[in-house]
Amino acid sequence: MISAPTSKKLLQTFHGIKTTIPPFWFMRQAGRYLPEYRQLRSHAGSFLELCYNPSLATEITLQPIRRFPVDAAILFSDILVVPHALGLHVDFLEHKGPIVETVTNDTELSKLDSSKVTTFLAPVYEAVSTIAAKLPSNVTLIGFAGSPWTVATYMIEGKSSKDFSLVKQLAYGKSDFFSKLINILIDATIMHLSAQIEAGAEVIQLFDSWAGILPEAAFRKWVIEPTTRIVYHLKNNYPHIPIIGFPRNAGINYQDYLETGVDAISIDYQLPLLWAKSHLQPHTIIQGNLDPSILLTDKETISNEICRILDMLGEQPFIFNLGHGMMPSIPIENVEHMINAIRNY
Ligand code: CP3
Repeated sequence: MISAPTSKKLLQTFHGIKTTIPPFWFMRQAGRYLPEYRQLRSHAGSFLELCYNPSLATEITLQPIRRFPVDAAILFSDILVVPHALGLHVDFLEHKGPIVETVTNDTELSKLDSSKVTTFLAPVYEAVSTIAAKLPSNVTLIGFAGSPWTVATYMIEGKSSKDFSLVKQLAYGKSDFFSKLINILIDATIMHLSAQIEAGAEVIQLFDSWAGILPEAAFRKWVIEPTTRIVYHLKNNYPHIPIIGFPRNAGINYQDYLETGVDAISIDYQLPLLWAKSHLQPHTIIQGNLDPSILLTDKETISNEICRILDMLGEQPFIFNLGHGMMPSIPIENVEHMINAIRNY
């Protein structure tokens, strides 16, 4: 059971309470569209150094909270700290994205060491507890991890992929090997999320950014089954912590994803709203789904899109968010306008 209602609107929503204004926060609300982030980033050696410095990670997490009346703060970190903590080399190259040391055979797999994950990531948990102590009483702290499938795509492809042929080749053709990798990631993810909860995370989001590239049977095996195991484990130990799942671009597979037992489902901006309203909303809380590119347009277009989403999904408890992360080129005044449009709806 999720514990008693508080002054936190996001937590109230998980109790099925419909607030006058829906709670809102934005994926990648901390990041390069904020000048104060770019300023701090330009002085830090690397993105990972920011992630592993508790006071800088705290500061960056709080930057959007100071600027905007959002209902949640999301820990500033990355889904790729888990493969890093398993012993792989991970780097973030400017304008190129992440580079991950690959694991494509049993010898490489045998080198992954899950025993040190939480020790390695101790600075992340220190950041979580510092943020928890500093947050305003109405703001909820969200911890997160990547889902095993999405993290595995980076561990096999070594970078953001175009066609995902290597990871699919192994997932479809070498499923014994791939199962072992996914099992290691399930355990590491459970440890990482449990440590965030122990440190003060109040809600968890599982990012499965590449869930949408899998056909039905593989979606079940590599997205639904691992997520179900993670949710089952967390719910056993932390029944009061709500879990949001984000199987991005899963299309009608979103319906099967309900079986994972998550408390809310984050929808991408391609998913038709009427379909989400009739197939998902009767069973779960929906979070989403403004296309972040709308924030590159004008006030009228932004207002219209927000009305369209709230007209369709706002009658039930609902969490307003984007359908994917904030982009570096989004003007801050448009973010402010979006917030006003949600509040004045
Ligand atoms: O504000 C927040 O949302 C919290 C922080 C957060 C980051 N990454 C910070 C980040 C979260 C929740 C993530 C999740 C993440 N990371 C995902 C899942 C969500 C999604 O976007 O689909 C994925 C796939 C990653 C892996 C990753 N990290 C990529 C592909 C990239 C490069 C692309 C890019 O936007 O630069 C990153 C880097 C990254 N993670 C940045 C930030 C703020 C940019 C780093 C910089 O400052 O240069």
